[in-house]
Amino acid sequence: MSDDDTGWSDSPLPVGLLFSQTGITAAAERTQLFATRLAISEINAAGGIGGREIVAVGQDCQANPKTFRQEATRLLDEAGVKILFGCYMSSTRKAVLPVVESRNALLAYPTFYEGFEYSPNCIYTGATPNQNTQPLVRHILEHYGSRMLLVGSNYIFPYESNRIFSDLVTESRGKILDEIYVPLDPKPEDFERTIRQIRRFSPDVIFSNVVGSGTAMLYEAYRQAGFDPARMPIASLTTSEAEVAEMSAAAAEGHFTAAPYFATLDTEPNRRFLAAYRAMFGADIPITAAAEAAYFQVHLVAAAIDQARSLVPAAVVEALGRVQFEAPQGRVAVDPTNNHTFLWPRVARVDAQKRFEIVWDPHRRMKPDPYFVSSALDDWSLVPQPAKID
Ligand code: ACM
Repeated sequence: MSDDDTGWSDSPLPVGLLFSQTGITAAAERTQLFATRLAISEINAAGGIGGREIVAVGQDCQANPKTFRQEATRLLDEAGVKILFGCYMSSTRKAVLPVVESRNALLAYPTFYEGFEYSPNCIYTGATPNQNTQPLVRHILEHYGSRMLLVGSNYIFPYESNRIFSDLVTESRGKILDEIYVPLDPKPEDFERTIRQIRRFSPDVIFSNVVGSGTAMLYEAYRQAGFDPARMPIASLTTSEAEVAEMSAAAAEGHFTAAPYFATLDTEPNRRFLAAYRAMFGADIPITAAAEAAYFQVHLVAAAIDQARSLVPAAVVEALGRVQFEAPQGRVAVDPTNNHTFLWPRVARVDAQKRFEIVWDPHRRMKPDPYFVSSALDDWSLVPQPAKID
């Protein structure tokens, strides 16, 4: 093996996977890990990247920022890795990025997040707030009303997501009635205050940024309190197929999530993706938007490395500007002006079978706006730009 300055050689290509198989967000991160492995196996079956077999390495990151940072350090310093795929919670991405930047490596991050970040050593393939929060706010303002109660897990993503949500709501003369944070690893009783405040204020909508295993506790507590989702739904960015799988159908039904992908999407690329994922990991494993991003980002990065014949982040990112992929959600591409991704916004409501029924789908690919330059809801008509990069 003789890597030159580009990091290119003929030997197998190790890539690092940073996902949790234990800890509070393991259910969602496991879907990302599986989808990453599926993409790697597809690429290897087709001959690898420029003839090089991809070899995935990486251990359980335990939903803990410190473990993520240690594992990233080990992979980059000891395992010969230059490309990393992974991270779910923003706290884990923030822990990993300084390590990635100091080694001039590349992290491909497949999770929706709060935006307001850019690194030349990172590409972001999950939704930015203009691609999920803005459509969600519009939907609930139109259908339910403008009096909102916010609940989230106690870390950076919910704080920032709530800030953006609150700006959008108050710009529309709506009202934030309360903003409650529960511990990251909550017990059912940690949601008692939330239920009391919902009863006290009777909001139009509850906006939840609760992540991971606490999500089912919130939805079950809401159901046990006897609230009616038809009148006062929970709207969320964090409640995906993985969290819904951990709650009863009665607790899940009638609530909303905004994301670029739902497993119920009726597209040919999605049918192929579902069949391959289920054949590899079993029919009962949930599939999420975060998994779909984890899947397509491996294909995008592999195609870019193939073009660049280099593992140097600047060269890979430059080549990403020339690459597109027919993802299960629609055709995706990284926006070379900000390293985030053109995605297809959607809003869905959970039905009685715990399936996400898509209730809003403009069938348009939206430019990522990570700094939320077009933040006003009134600017909506200007925001979903048909991609010019076809
Ligand atoms: C998240 O923390 N970006 C879900």
